[in-house]
Amino acid sequence: MTPVRARLCLPSARSDVPPFMVMDVMSAAARLEQAGRHVVHMEVGQPEAPAPGVALAAARAALGGSGAALGYTESLGMPSLRARIARHYRETYGEEVDPATVLVTTGSSAGFVLAFLAMLEPGDRVALAVPAYPPYRHILTALGCEPVLIRTGPETRFALEPEALLAAHRDKPLKAVLIASPGNPTGTMMTAEALARLVGTAEDAGIAVISDEIYHGLDYAFPATTALSASRKAVVINSFSKYFCMTGWRVGWMVAPEPLVRPMERLHQNLAISVPTLSQVAAEAAFEGRAEMEAVKAGYARNRDILTTGLPACGIDRFLPVDGAFYLYADVSAFTPDSHAFARALLEEAGVAVTPGLDFDPHEGHRWVRFSYARAEADMIEAVARIGRWLKGTG
Ligand SMILES: Cc1ncc(COP(=O)(O)O)c(C=O)c1O
Repeated sequence: MTPVRARLCLPSARSDVPPFMVMDVMSAAARLEQAGRHVVHMEVGQPEAPAPGVALAAARAALGGSGAALGYTESLGMPSLRARIARHYRETYGEEVDPATVLVTTGSSAGFVLAFLAMLEPGDRVALAVPAYPPYRHILTALGCEPVLIRTGPETRFALEPEALLAAHRDKPLKAVLIASPGNPTGTMMTAEALARLVGTAEDAGIAVISDEIYHGLDYAFPATTALSASRKAVVINSFSKYFCMTGWRVGWMVAPEPLVRPMERLHQNLAISVPTLSQVAAEAAFEGRAEMEAVKAGYARNRDILTTGLPACGIDRFLPVDGAFYLYADVSAFTPDSHAFARALLEEAGVAVTPGLDFDPHEGHRWVRFSYARAEADMIEAVARIGRWLKGTG
């Protein structure tokens, strides 16, 4: 092959982002299942329950109709869905939101891409607390921006402190900060006061705030507050994936300050045209399925109790009380210097799939693993029993 032809399929440098490790754990678990083993899945951050019945019914009705309803929608989303999302802010947080500032996105994942493209130039620095959801830093890297990882630990309940943010800004100016409460992988939350302090500090320093609120609704200790209550200059990203159990429907939303809406709309028109119409129809109906989702949430709360009492009985007792989401992030350094090897052995020897902390924290993650408790109660009981036997060497 000529040197010119050999270069034709060379991937770009920006595509060289790390894999999302949890996907590798899922593949390893699938291989064991194909070989006939029973695996308890605690690796994936995905509800086992289906979308609310009313959402499924709305989707079926849309499919049963003429089909005309399933063309493209406006790029910003179906007006009725945007209005319903705005109403959700009034009902849930007591905040008035103009439906014109609501954008419907393909899951919150597409919201990050749109927000980053609309707000950042290549080379801009964006702060985020680590441990954190890995795609934040990987998307930023792929877009040519610089993720600035600010270490957090149990001493601040994994919350980014205003002083740490300002220190990173003094080092070299930041353009934005990404915050998430409840957080993934830690499940910890910031109080309304702590969130307001962080948002206020950031904006006073000229740092734009992007708030990932995807786990709102899944709070056990105290209700989550939206960053919109602290500032109308914040960009808020949310999704139907978690509380509404609609991961595969790929529908989320953003509330953006008015000057960013048209740029985001133009980007969305070009990048995606619109979000799948069937999913938007189902998402709008999902808001009426809250009673069903509250029952699902009550199941997570029971799972949380099973783990927070069961794991310490097995010897895994270094974790913080879990405020929200459906994760528990535990320090397993008493058992291993390598949580990746720990997770692999736990899967292969005891049939329990968990995610090694390196996915969320490239520096300290070798000490931690994340347990997801979004599945059935019986699975949690089984997992605790298997982990207990395995750690005692009788697994
Ligand atoms: C913290 C966090 N943000 C965003 C996402 C992306 O979710 P989706 O694109 O399904 O809305 C996830 C998925 O696990 C997540 O954990």
